[in-house]
Amino acid sequence: MVICPLCRKPLICDSKSWHCEDGHSFDVARQGYVNLLTVQQKHSLHPGDTKEMVLARRQFLDAGYYRPIGETLRTLVCEYAPQAEAVLDVGCGEGYYLSHLSHIPQRYGVDISKEAVRYAAGHYKDTCWLTATASHLPFAQGSFDCLLSMFALTMEEEYARVLKKDGIFVQVLAGKSHLTALKNIIYPTLVEKEKDLQPELQGFTLLHSETLNFDFHVQHREQVQNLLSMTPHVWRISKAAAEALANTDTLSDCAEVILNVYRRN
Ligand SMILES: C[S@@+](CC[C@H](N)C(=O)[O-])C[C@H]1O[C@@H](n2cnc3c(N)ncnc32)[C@H](O)[C@@H]1O
Ligand SMILES: [Zn+2]
Repeated sequence: MVICPLCRKPLICDSKSWHCEDGHSFDVARQGYVNLLTVQQKHSLHPGDTKEMVLARRQFLDAGYYRPIGETLRTLVCEYAPQAEAVLDVGCGEGYYLSHLSHIPQRYGVDISKEAVRYAAGHYKDTCWLTATASHLPFAQGSFDCLLSMFALTMEEEYARVLKKDGIFVQVLAGKSHLTALKNIIYPTLVEKEKDLQPELQGFTLLHSETLNFDFHVQHREQVQNLLSMTPHVWRISKAAAEALANTDTLSDCAEVILNVYRRN
């Protein structure tokens, strides 16, 4: 089901390298992932999340603060794609959420960040981890029963292409009240932009949408910083707010997460 990102012909995979009949070849890295991101698809030298962001997210997720999200994801996938044989997580980061779907035999994680994929491959050996871009997924059409986008981007046309007919797309978005306490520290006067949290997607039917709310208590200064690094606020924070947050030892906050389940028409 994996195709060459250059000529779109099937890739023949062996343990050391993957190649197509046109002679394009991609090495399997020591950690086990394969880089299928072409130079043309890279818009910067190191696209996607940086090593610091990847490590921060991992430390935070490992502490279990977002466990309810992983558990709800698993419940929804079991309900809406009970017979799934193949799942793809796009923008998979370091693999936390895909690790909740270990009951699905074929698991693929794709991220544009080499650092994220390298970390995932080092931790979860029984999943295929690829560096690639969501806008040109290196898979033949109709490859997957289920596709996830967890706090990542939605490329509906491309997702519809790689999903089987009636395949399930689970889209997870941050809700309006997500991380209100953190946002109150960062933005003294908070003006929220309106966001469509149940978007209509061409080629898909929305089957189910639910909002998950839960409180969590961050106990260490380092974890407060990790939480900040996981959010887009890290790019926008002022110097004064960064200083205030650097002196924040504990934080009680609430997560508000929207889980949308779509069926490919
Ligand atoms: C907010 S993070 C979410 C990571 C993970 N899904 C999670 O929730 O822990 C967004 C991820 O999307 C990746 N990303 C950004 N642009 C991408 C693209 N064009 N194709 C694939 N992944 C991309 C980033 O590298 C990052 O790992
Ligand atoms: Zn090729």
